[in-house]
Amino acid sequence: NQLTHVTLTNYSKSEESRELIQKALLENDFMKHLEASQILTIMDCMYPTTLAQGCCVIQEGDDGSTVYVLEEGSVEVTKGEQKLCTIEPGKVFGELAILYNCTRTATVTEDVNCDKMTDRPVYSDGLRVIMQQSGPLKMQLY
Ligand code: CMP
Repeated sequence: NQLTHVTLTNYSKSEESRELIQKALLENDFMKHLEASQILTIMDCMYPTTLAQGCCVIQEGDDGSTVYVLEEGSVEVTKGEQKLCTIEPGKVFGELAILYNCTRTATVTEDVNCDKMTDRPVYSDGLRVIMQQSGPLKMQLY
């Protein structure tokens, strides 16, 4: 099995960031079914990056497997013309495409009503491996 040979890269981060990510993963309806060790692995693999102001983070219908945990600011989730929700810090987003192996289910943009720069979400490229190895999660999805 090729998957077992994928090397995951750990990114060191502050205790505060680790707690934020872990809490976000444990509060997410889908990710919380992962084993504790898998949550820790995903947390280790996530690394800080910034969302450029005014930029579209995720476009509905695109391919993509990046999962984000918002650290500051807020983002808006829309589908077509409809606004679905606002995502606040400490929340996971972008998890559905990889969990269901589908294209992005909605568009995520910076919240225009939030004057604070949207900053430092963290994301993981190793997540696909974890997802494919995850028995409990697979059961839940099928
Ligand atoms: P994904 O489909 O990968 O990319 C768009 C993201 O928007 C999706 O993952 C979820 O994280 C989020 N999203 C989609 N639909 C909703 C919804 N109804 N409520 C809240 N968040 C959503």
